[in-house]
Amino acid sequence: MMQAVRLHEIGGPQNLRLDEVPVPRAESGEVLVRLRFAAFNRRDVFITQGLYPGIDLPRIIGSDGAGVVDGTNGEVVIDPMLGWGDDPHVWGAGASILGMPRDGTFAQYVAVPRENIHAKPSHLSWEEAAALPLAGLTAYRATFTRGELKAGETVLIPGVGGGVQSFALLFAKASGARAIVTSGSDEKLERAKSLGADVAINYREFPDWHKKVGRGEVDLVIDSSGGDTVAKSLSVVRPGGRIVIYGGTRREATFALFPLFWNHVDIRGTSMGSPQDFRAMLDFVSEHGVHPVVDRVFDMSDAASAAERLAQNDQFGKVVLRIE
Ligand SMILES: NC(=O)c1ccc[n+]([C@@H]2O[C@H](COP(=O)([O-])OP(=O)(O)OC[C@H]3O[C@@H](n4cnc5c(N)ncnc54)[C@H](OP(=O)(O)O)[C@@H]3O)[C@@H](O)[C@H]2O)c1
Repeated sequence: MMQAVRLHEIGGPQNLRLDEVPVPRAESGEVLVRLRFAAFNRRDVFITQGLYPGIDLPRIIGSDGAGVVDGTNGEVVIDPMLGWGDDPHVWGAGASILGMPRDGTFAQYVAVPRENIHAKPSHLSWEEAAALPLAGLTAYRATFTRGELKAGETVLIPGVGGGVQSFALLFAKASGARAIVTSGSDEKLERAKSLGADVAINYREFPDWHKKVGRGEVDLVIDSSGGDTVAKSLSVVRPGGRIVIYGGTRREATFALFPLFWNHVDIRGTSMGSPQDFRAMLDFVSEHGVHPVVDRVFDMSDAASAAERLAQNDQFGKVVLRIE
């Protein structure tokens, strides 16, 4: 038997419970990983709230994890993107994400397809390695594969405290770009500046934060907050610039079409990333010595409080779970 954090019913983070369940069996083509640390994504909170398709309960949630392949010394991180398919441009019909509907990483063991394990970057601690997979993959594809960010360009990263956005900042700075960030908290803005953000604006203090950014100053916007962020971004992105969207925390966005078509702006959607993106992300992180931003580490027995921290937007970077 093993310990695992399972969601029993929809209703919020308080419905996460530490249970004793059987150790999963690795089927043919799979490996069993003894997890050391796991990490939260907004997705896990959305699942507890019923805001995700295909929820099947009870289920061990969690997409991020790092650990040791059972019976070996192989230290690995897990790519949570399952069955991406053959086309690197877009996932196929069989694609899914570890942690729903398939049992995830908030457990002592997880069984995953062999092709989803990769050597843990040696410069990372276990906590940092566990923080990397889903948000690192999503940010890498948004920044480079879809966003085509180049050295010397300016990228706008709204809501920099988010898990994915913290990686977008790290990746942008490591690649020699200039970064303008926003956040609802001065403390998070200070943290972002210490990580290299060139301009930092509080969107609560300045609801018209876009007026503090020069018209046409931005080459690329990377967003998941939705709401009025897209309209405001359209007023600062340069003619011919790009807006990459990987999420919609505030569900919908309304914006005028004129600045979009008049300025030949590309709006591009992206989700997770291909196996090629994951490998490129690991190479980039190793080559540039990138360390994920770990916000706080919680014990498995305290998973509900960890999820609540995300639900309240209190974190900067990644909330990590210690697997005993
Ligand atoms: N499509 C995909 O593959 C994919 C992958 C990962 C995530 N996502 C989606 O992307 C979103 C972020 O995920 P995450 O795990 O990084 O979430 P997270 O760590 O919970 O980050 C959410 C952040 O959103 C920011 N935010 C909230 N309201 C905002 C506003 N009015 N303006 C600007 N920023 C605002 C906050 O930043 P501050 O605290 O700095 O204010 C908050 O910390 C979620 O909707 C998630 O479902 C999609």
